[in-house]
Parts: sequence; structure tokens; C-alpha cells
Amino acid sequence: MCGIVGYVGKKDKKEILLDGLQELEYRGYDSAGIAIIEEQKLKHFKAIGKLANLRERTKDYQSSGFGTSIGHTRWATHGKPTELNAHPHLGEYSFVVHNGIIENYQILKSELQQEGTKFLSQTDTETIVHLFEKYHNQNRDAFTAFTQTIQRLEGAYATLLITEAQAKTIFFAKNGSPMLIGFEGNDVYFASSDTPIIGKATEVYYLEDGEYGYVKDGKVTLFDAKGEKSFSKQTLTTNKAMAQKDGFRFFMEKEIYEQGEVMNDTMMGRVLDDRIEFEELDNQLFENISNIKICACGTSYHSALTGSYLLERIAKIPCQVEIASEFRYKEPLLRDDTLFITISQSGETADTLEALKMAKRAGLKSLSICNVDNSSIVRESDRAILTRAGIEKGVASTKAFATQIMVLWMLTLYIAQLKKSIDKESLQSELNAMRHTPKALLVTNPLHEKLHRLSKRYLHGHGFFFIGRDLFFPLALEGALKLKEISYLHAEGYPSGEMKHGPIALADSELFTVALMPKSLHYEKIKSNVEELSARDATILAISPEPFELADDFVQTKYSSHPMLEFFEMMVVTQLLALEISVRLGNDVDMPRNLAKSVTVE
Ligand code: M6R
Repeated sequence: MCGIVGYVGKKDKKEILLDGLQELEYRGYDSAGIAIIEEQKLKHFKAIGKLANLRERTKDYQSSGFGTSIGHTRWATHGKPTELNAHPHLGEYSFVVHNGIIENYQILKSELQQEGTKFLSQTDTETIVHLFEKYHNQNRDAFTAFTQTIQRLEGAYATLLITEAQAKTIFFAKNGSPMLIGFEGNDVYFASSDTPIIGKATEVYYLEDGEYGYVKDGKVTLFDAKGEKSFSKQTLTTNKAMAQKDGFRFFMEKEIYEQGEVMNDTMMGRVLDDRIEFEELDNQLFENISNIKICACGTSYHSALTGSYLLERIAKIPCQVEIASEFRYKEPLLRDDTLFITISQSGETADTLEALKMAKRAGLKSLSICNVDNSSIVRESDRAILTRAGIEKGVASTKAFATQIMVLWMLTLYIAQLKKSIDKESLQSELNAMRHTPKALLVTNPLHEKLHRLSKRYLHGHGFFFIGRDLFFPLALEGALKLKEISYLHAEGYPSGEMKHGPIALADSELFTVALMPKSLHYEKIKSNVEELSARDATILAISPEPFELADDFVQTKYSSHPMLEFFEMMVVTQLLALEISVRLGNDVDMPRNLAKSVTVE
């Protein structure tokens, strides 16, 4: 995910920017760049790939004396990871870096193009610098031009702009994406999170949405919609490890909380007003395809299963799901009318990669859904859709799972559009539901607090059953896997209708049943299954919008017209439950025993 740094002062700007960007590396990026103005002269450098490439590019450049500077690491969303698309973006005499999404950039871009502006990149960000220069050319006042520019922007942004027109000033604005200002004497720093400025600045101000302004002569002038305003600085933490976790106790916890935000990245440029668009796909991939096979492991296998329900139900295309380690040795019959999809967070899972190679040898077309660009699985596949979850550090996958599910949902609609198996009205209602997903993923304090309190009741017993039906069966599997991975307690995911065919024999008060009871999908059926367990004295933790009187514990979710919104909300509940149980048991949440983030052995 993208990162911003900025600095105004006399110190070595190049080093401050490169060091700052290095601190943001853990967030993931595929290109980086810096721009510096010293003695009225603009200098800029960009490189794709790792920061080492940018260091190499800048090795003969020395920065000294007073100046302004901005830097950026980019995780490609609008447009490919190329040098032209890397930030900072240049106008005639100004540079800009930006995190977030300018939702109305197409309108702004067309307006500027009609007036003769040439665009070099495919990014939304470039509109900011051209708008600024357009207004500056009209009124010759840099701050007025900057204010006019940000008034035109819709969407989320944190942005820094420097210009030869006012060389000793940095202009900044924040709305919806994080940005802070660090202070040390007359030096002023900017960053999209604490880590780049820890050890450099001693005080900090966290900008609020709608705030903007400029830094000149070491002084920050701040505005919001009501005009100029004062602000109070606070002491900056000195704990870098804590700052990388954005104040959360664990990476997994941070990753659960950021699911709503990353989902916007996953959907960006793909969920359009009236359809789904994937710039990475074309009709040719689907020519002569009559069915789909998905292969994956672990959590990715659970997202594959979820996808199979969506693909068959909405896109009306037969879909089979296989565990990669089983698929490899079962001597599968492969037909060339099958599209072979692999799903992997890391893109390096040995079993999944080998399954893909087998499918390719059999002449199948392949598509991967992955979080890591240029990983082995992505390189091996004919086409790839990136999930854009940002680096996931917790070994127990959370946001990678959520974004895989979203990609599968989008892919389902994409195929349904191609096959014309969905009517306009249904497509619109799916798209509307999708747009509400980030809200369904919000973690509220009362919810987290409730799961913290409940967790103390679930530290013993002889096992957990997570149960659900339909789409909620794979979610039950995933809920159980999360709990197993980080609590080391035994947990199984089961189709709720299948309990009476065996596992119900285990039911007693020490059997904990986590029942996923969505109101929008087969509610009455699941309710009967849970009643059967309750009648045998199983302890029931029900997760549902509908109060359930037989529940021993109850987590209430929101009523929603679309099952996927219930799915995402319940997913968060199961993730937090596992997290809180693990914390109470004193386990290492981020690095559970015996597990690795990337499983490169079979
Ligand atoms: O990188 P992949 O998605 O291919 O990894 C597959 C599994 O190893 C992975 O999902 C594993 O199950 C995680 N630890 C789940 O939290």
C-alpha cells in the first residue's frame, strides 16, 4: 500500500526521504520516487521495484542546503507499476505525491485534456498537479491555486505538493487517507504513518480530514472548511515496532481492522457504475470455456469454496474446487474447456504452484488470484488478478482472505456479464451490495469489547464446531481454521445440516458450537440444526442479526438484504473471536507455533 514522506529544512533531504520510505517498505510497494527543490531547482528520481533501485538511481546526487522534498512508495492500483505511473507526478514546474483515490479524476482529466494538458501517466494523482498549475497560471498565487485544486477533488486523499513557483513551501491536504506532520526545531516532516519520522521528529500533529495548509520557514499554517485554525502538537512515540502496527497489539489485529480500507483498493477501477471491469482480463481467456476448476490451500481454499457457490449461482458456470495437495496426486482428468484458477496469498505455495504447472502441461488456460505481484504463481499463470490487500504480516490470514473473496465475487459478475447470465437489475443490486462491503467490515469498539469479554468463556472444553450452510459453510471452515491456528484449540468447520449425520454424537455442554445464522440465507434451516444441538446441551454461541433464544451467547450482526454483507460482517466476528481467545491463552498471535507465512515445501 502506498506511503508518503516529506521534509522541509536544511538536512540531507535525499537521505531523509530514502530512509523514511524504507520505514514504509513493510506496507508493500512496487515503485518509488522522490522530488527535491533546492535553490529553486527541481530534481526528481523514480524507479520500479525495490528501494535499492531508487538508491542506485540517486547515488550521484547530493542534496544540501535549505529545500523542500517529497517521496512516495506506490502499490499499483490505477495503472501498472511503471516508472511513468510512479509518484511524484510532474506538471511543468511542480510535483505531487498522493495516497488514496480521486474518484472524479476522469472528469477532471477530460476537462484538463480538452484545455490542452498532456498526461503522462494512467494515474488519478496526475490530475492534482495539472489542476494546481492551471489555477496557478491563472492567478499566480500558489496557496490560492492549491486551495482551488483540493476543492475540486472528490474521494480520499493525503497529498503533498512542491512547486518552483514558491520553492520554500510544501503544500499539504488530507481527507480520508492518513497523514501527519512531525516537528523538530525548524525542521518539518510529513509521513503517512509514524514510522518514517520516529527518531527524527520529537513532536507530531495527526491531521484531521478536511485539513490543509502549507509549511514555510519552519511554520505550519493550517486551515479547514471554517478557515485558519490553531492546533496542538503531541509527543511522538519512540517505539518503532509499535508504530508499524499503527498502535495495535498485533499485526493480525491491525490487518483485521484495515479490511474495510483495503477493500476499497480491491474494488478500485473494477467496480464501475454499471458493470465490473478487469483491465487484466479479456474475452479470449473465456473463449470455449464451459467450466472452472479452482485449486488452493488453507484459507485460500476456503475462499475458493466460497467462490464456487457464487460462480454457479450467479454466473451459471459449473465450478469444482480442489485442495492443491490432493489434486496433484489424484491423476485428475483435465479438459481444455476448463479454466484453471489458482488462489494464493503469497503466490509461492508449493502445492498450488505445482497444481498450476500440471494444468498448464495439460493445455488448460490459467488465471491466478494473488496478493503478490511477480510471485511464482502470478508469473506462471496466463492471467492474474491482484487482490491488493497490501502486505499481510500476521501468519493467520485475514485481509488476504477478505480480498480474495471480493475478487471472486467480482469475477463472478464479470463472467455473468460475459455469459449474459445476469439481468441488469440483479447486476445493479450486486454492485450496490459490493459498494457497501467496506462498511460491513468496520470493527466497532462495542463489538471488539464484546468479543474480548466472551472469549474468557471459551478457553477450555473439548472442541469447537463452527457451523453454517451454503456460503456460510466455507466461512465456518475458515472460522475454525483461524481459531486452530492461533489458539491451538481443536476446532472444526462443518455444514450445519450434516451435524446430525455423525458429529452430533459429540454434543454436550463442553462442545462449543459457533453458529453462523445469517437472516438472508436459509435462516430457518440453520435454526433447526442449531436447535438440534441445543437440545443435546451443546453450548451455543450464535452470530446472527436475529435474536435467538436458545443461544448461550449471542453476537448480534446487522440485518442486510445481501448474504455477502452478512458474510463479511460474520467473518470479522470470527476473526476477532480467535484473536481474543489466543491473547487470553498467551499465545504468539502473529507467529503461531509450527506455522509459516509462505509454505514453499509440499
Ligand atoms: O499463500 P497461500 O494463500 O497460498 O497459502 C495457503 C495457506 O498456507 C494459508 O492460507 C494458510 O492456511 C494460512 N496460515 C491461513 O491463515
